[in-house]
This record gives sequence, structure tokens and C-alpha cells, in this order.
Amino acid sequence: MLIGVPAEIKNNENRVALTPAGVVELLRFGHQVIIQSNAGVGSGFEDKEYLNAGAEIIPTLQEVYAKAEMILKVKEPIAQEYDLVKEGQLLFTYFHFASSVPLTKAMLKSKAICLAYETVESADGSLPLLVPMSEVAGRMAIQEGAKYLEKPLKGKGILLGGVPGTPRGKVLILGGGVVGTQAAKMAAGLGANVVIMDISLKRLRYLADIMPANVTTIMSNQLNIEQSIKEADLIVGAVLIPGAKAPHLIKRDMLKKMRPGTVLVDVAVDQGGCIETCQPTTHENPTFIIDDIVHYCVANMPGAVPYTSTLALTNATLPYVLQLANKGWEKATEENIELKKGLNIVNGIIVHKGVAEAFAS
Ligand SMILES: NC(=O)c1ccc[n+]([C@@H]2O[C@H](COP(=O)([O-])OP(=O)(O)OC[C@H]3O[C@@H](n4cnc5c(N)ncnc54)[C@H](O)[C@@H]3O)[C@@H](O)[C@H]2O)c1
Repeated sequence: MLIGVPAEIKNNENRVALTPAGVVELLRFGHQVIIQSNAGVGSGFEDKEYLNAGAEIIPTLQEVYAKAEMILKVKEPIAQEYDLVKEGQLLFTYFHFASSVPLTKAMLKSKAICLAYETVESADGSLPLLVPMSEVAGRMAIQEGAKYLEKPLKGKGILLGGVPGTPRGKVLILGGGVVGTQAAKMAAGLGANVVIMDISLKRLRYLADIMPANVTTIMSNQLNIEQSIKEADLIVGAVLIPGAKAPHLIKRDMLKKMRPGTVLVDVAVDQGGCIETCQPTTHENPTFIIDDIVHYCVANMPGAVPYTSTLALTNATLPYVLQLANKGWEKATEENIELKKGLNIVNGIIVHKGVAEAFAS
């Protein structure tokens, strides 16, 4: 199969959908790979690395779309790409159709095959192509939170791990899923005292088993949250209720109970946020302050670390890419239920229940 990798043109997107290592794997199975010139630069991969791996470098976006049977991307196509997508072409990328009517209409019109990373689903209900980005965001939440706790950045002026003879910083993590677990590991590693809250007792039992001694698990409820926020230096919002907006566990009036300079990192901001005062921010301007409390609410946190994010994402996507290339999308999705769940639009028809429901009214 001829696989094409366009450069990402969405604002501030530095990831790329395939690494030179991925090219080598695809070539081993007899496929051909074309990469748009400079597509990997933002993630630290030069054209010559792709050339050495056996890919062909193509100068323009138009040519990549015109030649490839399968387009591999990171973000959804944007308006200037809509007309480049061909009938019968397979597109494997994050789409998030429910949040964009123009994109959905354009892909329906194109009669392409749209397989969405975000709906590829394992038998246990987990989303294997979303997990790596949650891992990145969870770890970053502590790195960013620690930074904004510094006084010049309007934080309390606390070093998370403390030093001998001083108290350790206190980190409260709301939600003990993928993001929360990775955040807890990082905070614990820095030497902070960490509290992780979840509503799932099963999850708390698991976390209590695997976490180091400076991580305490507490049931998530209003009283426990209200008590913990008074003490916390850094609070990470990492709650998810699948298919729903995140619940506001920290309301505006609760900010008054926190000490000035407390830092809030609401990772769940892409689902509306679990802190009422959070509004999406960008890497250019990541924080704002309300009632002396620093809010960090960047909706695409992994975008700041494209090298790690690209490797993490492509580690997860490559096995599926190989199946699609080796068998063709029809056979691959027939034989692999995980991939089948990724099918969103096929030949001008919405085939994913969730996406169809989002456009039903
Ligand atoms: N901002 C970003 O760049 C970025 C990147 C990746 C993920 N995210 C977002 O981070 C959020 C968390 O993702 P995840 O992969 O960790 O999800 P997950 O499903 O693995 O974990 C969510 C956890 O929240 C828990 N939970 C639900 N209600 C709760 C409550 N009231 N109190 C405490 N815990 C509660 C669940 O039991 C679950 O353990 C999602 O909204 C996701 O979209 C954001």
C-alpha cells in the first residue's frame, strides 16, 4: 500500500503521525511511504532520517493527498485540506467529529474512509490511542504545576519536594485514571505528599497497592475535597465521566478556602474542566489568576512536548497502521473489533453510533 504522511498544518501542532522507525516497519512488509517535506521537524525528525529509513520525501501537501492510498495524520484535516481528500482514500487520525459540523460534512462529501484514533476501543472499554496522550498530560501536569508554584510565576513559592528540615509540598489529584496515576507518580517521585481521590473504590484499592508510601488514596466526595483544598499547594483535575461533561468538583466560592498562590492544573479542561473557574488556555498564554489562585488550563498539553508525544502516539498507532496496510481497511476492521470501532465515516455514511447520535437532532 502507498502510505502518505502530510505535515500537520493546524496551529501549533508539532507532532507527526509516523517516525522513521515506523517507516522501516512498513517497508519491511512491502509498503511504500511518502512523507511531506519537513513533516517531522517539529518532533525532531529531519527529512534525511526518513530518507535513510526508505521513505520518499514529497514537497507539497497536495501531492501527498493525490498519491496516497492511506493518509496518516495526527489532527483532523482542516478546511484547506478538505478538497484534497479523495473518494475511497483511507484516513487514520484523530477526528473528534462530534465537535465539528464542517469537518463532518466535508468528510461525508469526500466519500473517504475515516478511521478515528479516539474511537478505537479495546475489549475492556479502554481507548488505546487516547491513553498515550493522557500519560503525557498527567506527567506534564506536575512539571507545569511545580513551575507555576514558583514565586515569579505568581505561585506560593514552594519547592514540591522541600529540602531536609522543611515540609514537603502537598499535591491533591482529583481522579485516579490514566492522567491521575501518572501525575501521582511524578509528584511522589519529586518527594511531595500526594493525595489522590477517585469515586471508584476498586481503583483506589489498586492505586493504594502500587503507589509509594507518600501517596494517600482518599474517596472523592464533597467534604473530603473541601478539606483537602485548604492544605494543597498544587491541585490537578483529572476526572472523566465518559461521554459527559466533567463535574465541577471545585466551585468558584471554594477558591477562597485555598491559600493564595495555590496552583490549579485542570487537565480535564477539554471535557469542560472539573474546576468551575477553568477556561481553556494555550501554550502561549497558559495561566490566569482568579482570587490569587493560579489556573493552568491548556487544552492540548501534549503539544508542548512533541518529541515525546509523537513517540508515545506512534508506538500505539503503528500496530493498527500495519494491520490496515497489510490487509486493507475492510479485512482489517472485519478481523479486529478494536479497529472496527474506529470506523466513523465510510463512503459518505456515518457508521459510528456516537457520531450519528451527535448529529441526530
Ligand atoms: N488537557 C489535555 O491536554 C489532556 C490530555 C489528555 C487527556 N485529557 C483529559 O484528562 C481527563 C482524564 O483523562 P483520563 O485518561 O485520566 O481518564 P480516565 O477515564 O482514565 O480517568 C478518569 C477517572 O476519573 C474518575 N472520576 C470520575 N468521577 C470522579 C469524581 N467525581 N471524583 C474523582 N474521580 C472521579 C474515574 O473513576 C476515573 O478513574 C479527560 O477529560 C481527558 O480528556 C486532557
